[in-house]
Amino acid sequence: MQVVNAGLREMRVSDLDAVMDIERRAYEFAWSRGNFVDSLAAGYVAQVLCDEQDAVQGYFVAMAGVEEMHLLNISVEPRLQRRGLGLQLLDGVLLSATLHGAALLWLEVRPSNQRALRLYERYGLHAVARRRAYYPAMVDGRAGREDAIVMSSPVETLRRSRGMD
Ligand SMILES: CC(C)(COP(=O)(O)OP(=O)(O)OC[C@H]1O[C@@H](n2cnc3c(N)ncnc32)[C@H](O)[C@@H]1OP(=O)(O)O)[C@@H](O)C(=O)NCCC(=O)NCCS
Repeated sequence: MQVVNAGLREMRVSDLDAVMDIERRAYEFAWSRGNFVDSLAAGYVAQVLCDEQDAVQGYFVAMAGVEEMHLLNISVEPRLQRRGLGLQLLDGVLLSATLHGAALLWLEVRPSNQRALRLYERYGLHAVARRRAYYPAMVDGRAGREDAIVMSSPVETLRRSRGMD
């Protein structure tokens, strides 16, 4: 079932209670509030997807570089996952990448995060590299590390496949 919402808007400091509530439930290794505060202060692209009462349903944070957009965080309220909001957020990332003149969109993802991997592959992103022991992880009940898969795609290709041209 599709979820009704009011679309994406810029993330504000006043959203961070709601964002952190989702972040802590969405990840085993969550970003800290400070990570979001720093991202906003640094002028990263940060947007929230809200319902018609302005309650946060999901969000993304991305860093615009020289001709590229690096997606750093994308999350959906766990109770609202698997209803197309992840896809809607990715379209927001793609639009932001376009507005920033980025030629390339890229991100890192854990190989164990099958849901995110499937979403990105379906969206048209491809694995291009692997960073060894990039993420903190629990391995057999102990603190360890997990690789990151680097995925990317030209913005133009994604825009075409999403019918944005
Ligand atoms: C990864 C994440 C952002 C995806 O968000 P999402 O809202 O669940 O994504 P979507 O709903 O667009 O797509 C996910 C699945 O739901 C399915 N789906 C989408 N719309 C649907 C609908 N209306 N009805 C039924 N299923 C639907 C998709 O086909 C997809 O299925 P699949 O996993 O079997 O391939 C979300 O799972 C999340 O926040 N995870 C925790 C944080 C995280 O891992 N972020 C990524 C870090 S790299």
